[in-house]
Amino acid sequence: MEKNIPKLVFILIAAIGVALNALIYITSIRSFYYSLVLTMAMLLAFIIIRLLNKAAISKAVSEKDSEILRLKEKAAEKNEVERLKEEFVFLATHQIRSPLAAIKGYASMSLEGDYGHLSSGIKDVFETISESSDNLLSLINEFLDVSRIESGHMKYQMEKIDIKKIVVDSTRELTPKAKKKKLKIDFSYEKSDSYYTNGDAQKIKMIIHNLIDNAVTYTKLGWIKVKLTNKKNIIRLEVADSGLGIAQDELTLLFNKFTRTKTASEASVNGSGIGLYLAKNIIDAHEGEIWVESKGLGKGSTFILELKESK
Ligand SMILES: Nc1ncnc2c1ncn2[C@@H]1O[C@H](COP(=O)(O)OP(=O)(O)OP(=O)(O)O)[C@@H](O)[C@H]1O
Ligand SMILES: [Mg+2]
Repeated sequence: MEKNIPKLVFILIAAIGVALNALIYITSIRSFYYSLVLTMAMLLAFIIIRLLNKAAISKAVSEKDSEILRLKEKAAEKNEVERLKEEFVFLATHQIRSPLAAIKGYASMSLEGDYGHLSSGIKDVFETISESSDNLLSLINEFLDVSRIESGHMKYQMEKIDIKKIVVDSTRELTPKAKKKKLKIDFSYEKSDSYYTNGDAQKIKMIIHNLIDNAVTYTKLGWIKVKLTNKKNIIRLEVADSGLGIAQDELTLLFNKFTRTKTASEASVNGSGIGLYLAKNIIDAHEGEIWVESKGLGKGSTFILELKESK
């Protein structure tokens, strides 16, 4: 719009000039000199407007240039901050992982009796050390995965994996925790069905482990039912519990980073609200689906995970 204004001014001056020249010839003045002076004045006006126009354009261009430069600098700064952040997360977590592995290793060796017989009191202490280092290790691994997902550096090692085996292993690992709460994990599946899919074994294991772990963590009384089916080549895992349940407006929010329900935070201080965020991202990368259903607070919940069967 603005660029058209000088053009209009040119046309206007030209029109006025032509009209005045015509007027000079028609009217009694009929002076060649008047006409000459007027034409010169018009030319001068043209030149001045052109120069002004050029100056305005070059000012606009240089402003745009410096804006682009500013944006480029900002982007470079952001990239640098991102790079430093990633570097920090990697360094910090790797530096924590090694001493943690040592603590965990010595705790298990002590528990296994490598350093002599332990009284039951000391055994409890080493069990707590071992459990806490496990929790810390999985938290560190979760942070590393969040950082990888956000920087777009998450790598998947896709292979043919058996979901049934992963569920069996996870259930076995979580049975002691469930037993402590007097809960039983009930696992059912159709024997004739196949549960093979194409996926990253370690990451799918982490997701399934977390779903069952959540069911145990967020259920005080009642039951936990884990069910596997395969309908029309879609493997479906349902992890249902009779626990805390989830309010309707929180159902989709749980898959956001660091999101926990109020009741869950009160029931268990230890959660970080990362597990389901990772699950959603990883399952999306596997072209699968994950969601949750609940009839409301106090009415239990069912987490559903679907993946395509691989032949
Ligand atoms: N079975 C469940 N019943 C009720 N609420 C649940 C259940 N599973 C998950 N939630 C809610 O979803 C939140 C997010 O779960 P998520 O697994 O992402 O994190 P977390 O369990 O808090 O910690 P972590 O990242 O260590 O797994 C939980 O804090 C809890 O509020
Ligand atoms: Mg969890």
